[in-house]
Amino acid sequence: MARAKIALIGAGMIGGTLAHLAALKELGDVVLFDIADGIPQGKSLDMAEAGPVEKYDAKLKGTTDYADIADADVCIVTAGVARKPGMSRDDLLGINLKVMKSVGEGIKAHAPNAFVICITNPLDAMVWALQKFSGLPANKVCGMAGVLDSARFSHFLAEEFDVSVKDINTFVLGGHGDTMVPLQRYSTVAGIPLPDLVDMGWTTQDKLDAIVQRTRDGGAEIVGLLKTGSAYYAPASSAIEMAIAYLKDQKRVLPCAAYVEDAFGVKDIYVGVPTVIGADGIEKIVEISLNKEEQAMFDNSVEAVAGLVAACKEIDGSLA
Ligand code: APR
Repeated sequence: MARAKIALIGAGMIGGTLAHLAALKELGDVVLFDIADGIPQGKSLDMAEAGPVEKYDAKLKGTTDYADIADADVCIVTAGVARKPGMSRDDLLGINLKVMKSVGEGIKAHAPNAFVICITNPLDAMVWALQKFSGLPANKVCGMAGVLDSARFSHFLAEEFDVSVKDINTFVLGGHGDTMVPLQRYSTVAGIPLPDLVDMGWTTQDKLDAIVQRTRDGGAEIVGLLKTGSAYYAPASSAIEMAIAYLKDQKRVLPCAAYVEDAFGVKDIYVGVPTVIGADGIEKIVEISLNKEEQAMFDNSVEAVAGLVAACKEIDGSLA
């Protein structure tokens, strides 16, 4: 059986980290694409030269030619401009929308059967635009945000409780932005929901609320520290987890920005929801029940995403 082919569109900080993880985890051969000639070729050669040490067989190719992504099984898109300090995800909208157009057309022409994972921000609007521009089925185009946001939430909780991250399971819904909805009721430590842990005296509601806020601000916290770029290790790990779920038909239950036809009281929008990822891409949306407060937060988040989608339509009339 031929090896899987992973195409990474964008060879910047996340793209390079994705390539390294894909090679180390032996997911298949890797094509690293970018418009900045030399970067994808240089990073690919460097990683290929690590192969004899790490003992991976993956072939790594750097390119500026979309023809090289032909018949990729998975495309992970990070092409675009990353957030700079003081810049909101939304400021990126106009610039990255144009990038999604060229990437969508490249994928449509050369890898129309791929499972596409978008990482470029502002995430929910960009994945929506990428699906439109590529014309791929909505179940094959999704965005990586929920796995990352949940991972950040889990990390902060593990620190607070001084327990292993392995025993923490968190749930984050909504758009990837300041309106994201970390769900305390559905987040657990070894199956114990967070509100029960407050009752047990493990933490206080105030501390939990602060952790929720830190999770919402997780991207900005890293931008503020790095000053010249945004997070890349955790975003890359998160997208690789989704790619593995698809390639290995794992039926993982993972939160991601998926096309919601009609669920959670909203219609026809890309937003962060729990999904099942397997060989058919986004195979299912898991419609958990939300209480009034959670639904209000989710609706608020959906409204923010809808605003960005409307702005995209204004910028590019072909999307309207
Ligand atoms: N086609 C292909 N690649 C492009 C294009 C394009 N039209 N425009 C820009 N790029 C490339 C850049 O040349 C750069 O190498 O995208 C890469 C982006 O890399 P970085 O600037 O290092 O950004 P990164 O940290 O990887 O983040 C990428 O993910 O989390 C989001 O907000 C983040 O939108 C950003 C994206």
